[in-house]
Amino acid sequence: MTARQQPKNLWIGRWGFVLAATGSAVGLGNIWKFPYMTGEYGGGAFVLVYLACILCIGIPAMMTEIAFGRRGRGSPIDAVKRVAQESGRGKIWSGFGWMSMLAGFMILSFYVVVAGWSLAYLWKAISGGLQGGSVEDMAAIFGANNANPLTLGAWSTLVTVVTMFIVGKGVQEGIERSMRWMMPGMVLLLLAMIVYAMFSGGFGEAVTFLFSFEVGKLSSAGLLAAMGHAFFTLSLSAGAIMAYGAYLPDSKSIARTTFTVAICDTLIALMAGLAIFPAIFANGMDPASGPGLIFMSLPLAFQQMPLGNVLQVIFFVMLSVAALTSAVSMIEATVAWLTERKGMSRKRAAWSSGIVLWLLSTLAMLSFNLGADWTLAGKTVFDWLDYLTSRWMMPLGGLGLCLMAGFLLRDEIFRDELRLSRRQHALWLLMVRYVSPLGIVLIFIDALGVMSIDIGSQWPWFLAVLVAITVLGEMLSPRVRRQLVG
Ligand code: PHE
Repeated sequence: MTARQQPKNLWIGRWGFVLAATGSAVGLGNIWKFPYMTGEYGGGAFVLVYLACILCIGIPAMMTEIAFGRRGRGSPIDAVKRVAQESGRGKIWSGFGWMSMLAGFMILSFYVVVAGWSLAYLWKAISGGLQGGSVEDMAAIFGANNANPLTLGAWSTLVTVVTMFIVGKGVQEGIERSMRWMMPGMVLLLLAMIVYAMFSGGFGEAVTFLFSFEVGKLSSAGLLAAMGHAFFTLSLSAGAIMAYGAYLPDSKSIARTTFTVAICDTLIALMAGLAIFPAIFANGMDPASGPGLIFMSLPLAFQQMPLGNVLQVIFFVMLSVAALTSAVSMIEATVAWLTERKGMSRKRAAWSSGIVLWLLSTLAMLSFNLGADWTLAGKTVFDWLDYLTSRWMMPLGGLGLCLMAGFLLRDEIFRDELRLSRRQHALWLLMVRYVSPLGIVLIFIDALGVMSIDIGSQWPWFLAVLVAITVLGEMLSPRVRRQLVG
């Protein structure tokens, strides 16, 4: 048997983990990023590859992360270290735990700025500050919102304070409890918007846009973006899911919970599309208007609609809640680590990490005003935080964990944790050994710009490479395994 750690905290409710992990997964990624990426990369074609990425890369990677967390029963750093040690591996492998924790922290530092926009817009929606007749007017409002570091900073500070307050209250009392009303509340608001959209025009067009799968429209940039986004939207390689997994009771099935979370996350992203695009189409606007979609085009569209003001308030409440439930999960790894290793109380751990976070997020916030020209290679602090985490740290962490689980660590650990049938286990292994790694390597090749990838015409090659690597890997792997694991 294994030398497993005794869990200190466990989710209490039947849905504790699912609620918290879905809360983490569903966030700005679903409501802000997914719709604008779908708009930019051509609608249905993008949606289709996104779904494929969630299935082939996201789900196996999430199962792996939860297995690490539950087996190691600790913050990601300790969890990875313990699981590695159980296979006779050195401490060095906990480096992937460190990277995840750091990635979560860095993401949070710019996430609170975007969440701050959401709160600022909620306030504007309530107080009637979102009036204007053209996209230019709305762009001016967005610009003015960002120009003043004091107000912009105040909004992101507010997000930070609320996040730390919830996390400081503890896993069950703070996180689980708040998720119980925030998640259903958010879904209800989203449903209300969809029902409204069904009766107010543009709905048919939105459905066609999202679900007409025209493969020809797919670009490689779209495919790579979909892959990267699969990690971001499922909160992978950022410490969050692993930290939450550490509180998962032994009796729960990792596969079932993973599928539930991934399906909810995907449904909510699609629902967000169905809530947002009808308003855009009904007003004859361009779905491909980029990151400004929900802060500029959408408020403008709402103005033209009956009850638009009410709808606008609903929308920004929902966005803020979604952002908050994700923010909470990004700092959990750090807080868990501080309490375990430095013996701090949860409150103390939350507030001290909150202060460091606040400093970093202030730098990110200043990228929109005073620090707009503090750039390196053309990127502001905000851009760098986003780029480093989503283009490098998350994929690298995902790659590391998948390869560790696939090749380096004892397979019994994962058999024990995942409890899949033989066939399912073999399929999971195939994904973490070959399919996810190859996908991730493509993201790196693209980020490095060493080779131009055109998946549209080169896909037979990629498929051939995947098959070749798999066959070769499986021929070699018993030997490799014997050597590595002993
Ligand atoms: N999944 C969240 C979203 O879609 C973002 C996130 C990333 C949350 C990493 C936690 C960790 O917005």
